[in-house]
Amino acid sequence: MIAPSILSADFARLADEVAAVQGRADWLHVDVMDAHFVPNLTLGLPVVQSLLATTDLPLDCHLMIENPDRWAIGYAEAGSYNVTVHVEAANDPVMLAKNVHAAGSKAGLAIKPKTPLEPYLDVLKHYDTLLVMSVEPGFGGQKFIAEVLDKVRAARRLVDAGHLNLVVEIDGGINRDTIEQAAEAGVDCFVAGSAVYAADDPARAVDALRLQAENSKR
Ligand code: DX5
Ligand code: ZN
Repeated sequence: MIAPSILSADFARLADEVAAVQGRADWLHVDVMDAHFVPNLTLGLPVVQSLLATTDLPLDCHLMIENPDRWAIGYAEAGSYNVTVHVEAANDPVMLAKNVHAAGSKAGLAIKPKTPLEPYLDVLKHYDTLLVMSVEPGFGGQKFIAEVLDKVRAARRLVDAGHLNLVVEIDGGINRDTIEQAAEAGVDCFVAGSAVYAADDPARAVDALRLQAENSKR
């Protein structure tokens, strides 16, 4: 699956930018930043509500915020398909996942590049997606950190063995030069910001990334 990140889109033309990948993207990745958990400020629930009213694409909300235990549920209640929180910020990630599910969304757990996977294997049993960050969260257009692929491989093995049941998602620096190694490591869903929205034709960029990922998995 390909999830274009609107962080790299033109925020003054968001509806058009979303329409440009409608029918080609699988999910629409929405980066919510609060200028506390990360040193950047983007958008919040009112913009997500407007996006939900303008597109049929499933919204994949990536909350890079402090106290997600308090705020995540609003994004679920609004109708997001998946709400992802950072394990580094969550106080009670198991309860948080239960609350998000009760509000009608899938729940995702994100881990920063230096955060290990092993301490969270029991927590991840409550989650539908694992978002492996392949850049430090906060900004688009950064360089891919290939070392995180060890965590992707470990998660892939656990899913294939039936120990976890989740979508393995990767976020940061995914482009035509990096998507093949991520696909080979076992990623299911690729977030791509600048690789999609800096392209002349975002829809064709989505198709090209998908094709590359499919070919390298064979
Ligand atoms: C970064 C965000 C990413 C960002 C990726 O903190 O979580 O979703 O949009 O942008 P690229 O694909 O340009 O690295
Ligand atoms: Zn993101």
